[in-house]
Amino acid sequence: MDKKINWGIIGLGKIAHKFAADLNLSDNAVLYGVASRDFAKAERFKNEYNSVKSYRSYEALADDPDIDIVYVATPHVFHFENAMMCLKKGKSVLCEKPMGMNSEQVKSLIEEARRRNLFLMEGIWTRFIPATEKLLELIDEGVIGKLISVRADFGFKSSFDSESRIFNKKLGAGSLLDIGIYPVYLSLLLLGIPKNIKAFARMTKTDVDSYCAMLFDYENGSKANLESTIEADTPVEGYIYGSKGSIKMHSRFHHTERLTISINGNSETLEMKIEGNGYVYEIDEANQCLANNQTESEKLPLSTTIDLIKTLEGVMEEIGLNYEGYISNP
Ligand SMILES: NC(=O)c1ccc[n+]([C@@H]2O[C@H](COP(=O)([O-])OP(=O)(O)OC[C@H]3O[C@@H](n4cnc5c(N)ncnc54)[C@H](OP(=O)(O)O)[C@@H]3O)[C@@H](O)[C@H]2O)c1
Repeated sequence: MDKKINWGIIGLGKIAHKFAADLNLSDNAVLYGVASRDFAKAERFKNEYNSVKSYRSYEALADDPDIDIVYVATPHVFHFENAMMCLKKGKSVLCEKPMGMNSEQVKSLIEEARRRNLFLMEGIWTRFIPATEKLLELIDEGVIGKLISVRADFGFKSSFDSESRIFNKKLGAGSLLDIGIYPVYLSLLLLGIPKNIKAFARMTKTDVDSYCAMLFDYENGSKANLESTIEADTPVEGYIYGSKGSIKMHSRFHHTERLTISINGNSETLEMKIEGNGYVYEIDEANQCLANNQTESEKLPLSTTIDLIKTLEGVMEEIGLNYEGYISNP
């Protein structure tokens, strides 16, 4: 690539730190600007990760003509307004997952990006890690035959804090949207859109799901058995079963470095190391798309982002999880 892509980050929390470290690993990216609601924090972050600039507001960053793309790393409920603000100021956007709290928000962002011919992608980094690429290759080659089912879980124990973004409904809390999105994405990637969704949840006193069990049924008879929770540490593994054998995605499956293929009682484990924190692959995908004037990724197209939020809405309807009154309408 001739030109380096200038990145901005808004919302300097936990994930922004990991992402900034990986931006510095990418040959084609420059960490150009960082913005926080707190300027002193932005200054510290700038110095820690050698950003060129820091700004006093998210809007000031998006106003800088030198920034090519903004990484939106705020809590879920703000993705829509933050990403929309950036698009309206002519910036391409990589938005953390979920891109919106419902399909209306997601569609509205996609329409805005298309109207302005800007790149837009959801931060489902799982799609770009080497092990996922290998998994898709193995499945395409028919190594485990016709897919029968997918099983995946994502759980961690989080101590209750009504103000944290994990429990605070005003910040879009709950296990499903924060981590259940990864098992759901895996099912979508491998099996497509489910015909029927069954789900059961346990709710917190802040009225979000702390445990969500999902069972998806597909037109061709295949099934997905998925789980997310903020109540317990679970294995965070993925299993893909086919007519000839199975593939295990080792923990944590959403950025795994190991796949075990089992066929007729024989197993082989493939190791695929991840560079940095694992975000460098989605960063490189965005860089390539921008360099080639592509407005969406072929590997993670915007249609997948719509299918993902619609599937999540199907689960939310089943478990009675509703963020109305907490989110802005497009
Ligand atoms: N891809 C991944 O592996 C991964 C991992 C974790 C999280 N995520 C996603 O990244 C997003 C952020 O997660 P995080 O764990 O980094 O959260 P976090 O540590 O709470 O950081 C979120 C940041 O958003 C900004 N913010 C703006 N308005 C806010 C408000 N009203 N309350 C709190 N923060 C506000 C704050 O930055 P300033 O104070 O600097 O403005 C805050 O530091 C979430 O949507 C999550 O789904 C992705």
